[in-house]
Amino acid sequence: MTVNTALDGDIAVITLDRQKALNALSFAQLDALDEAIAQVARSAARGLVVVGAGDKAFCAGADIPELTGRTLHEEHEGSRLGQEVFERISRLRIPSVAVIQGYAFGGGLELALACTFRVATPAARMGLPEIKLGLIPGYGGTQRLPRLIGEGRALELILSGRTLKADEAERIGLVNRVVQEGTPAGIGRDFLVPYLQYGLPALDLARQAVQRGMQTTLEHGLRIERDLSTLAYRTADAAEGMQAFIEKRAPLFKDA
Ligand code: CAA
Repeated sequence: MTVNTALDGDIAVITLDRQKALNALSFAQLDALDEAIAQVARSAARGLVVVGAGDKAFCAGADIPELTGRTLHEEHEGSRLGQEVFERISRLRIPSVAVIQGYAFGGGLELALACTFRVATPAARMGLPEIKLGLIPGYGGTQRLPRLIGEGRALELILSGRTLKADEAERIGLVNRVVQEGTPAGIGRDFLVPYLQYGLPALDLARQAVQRGMQTTLEHGLRIERDLSTLAYRTADAAEGMQAFIEKRAPLFKDA
């Protein structure tokens, strides 16, 4: 079991590598993932790609044998750990993309849901099958899925445990795009290229405005937008972006 982090130019790549168990997330792997995320946050990376090693799976979810025979306290703390690690991915300042090649089930799909974006290859298969184990999703799936695709569709997927193919996942907005050609890391890198030209403060504030607004009323969300758009306005990047427009030249953002 390993979680590898590599920096490919401006882009960090986290690889879940436990192929004999379809990259299932043991608690040790969750800890390693947490450390990898902290490493990425400290690095100069301007984008993050999350992939699974091998061509069979992105991640088959929580490690099922490890889930058995636990006390209720251990189970509660396990769910908290998964939620907290995934929350740290979702709050990264840089955009992240999960590239789903092969299976993404349970905690694996929940990990992808915590990323800013999801890309699938045509053969990808995904779902939240916990109901088939007598369980329910515990790493954020019941909360992030309805926010992404709506309550009705999320309830159908969570209560049926049904497996989705890539084209249906794209149609309902669960994945942003289906991409045929390339390695998972390459697909993720290509997906993120358009975002590299923008300043990190604006990318971060825009993401926060959307995500925080999704958790509250429209009235409060509009207040969040006012506050965060004002924060964006006072950055040096905003001054540069507007000046560059007036001078009819490309802006030179400095992430400040
Ligand atoms: N945990 C541990 N090991 C797993 C695993 C998991 N989630 N998923 C697969 N594996 C292991 C299998 O036990 C098998 O190991 P052995 O070769 O030692 O027997 C190996 O990976 C290959 O798996 P299969 O032989 O089953 O491969 P397949 O291609 O026939 O089927 C699959 C693939 C449909 C993904 C099937 O493995 C499967 O249904 N896996 C479980 C998926 C699942 O239920 N995930 C949710 C887990 S619970 C959860 O995630 C809770 C939460 O919210 C956090």
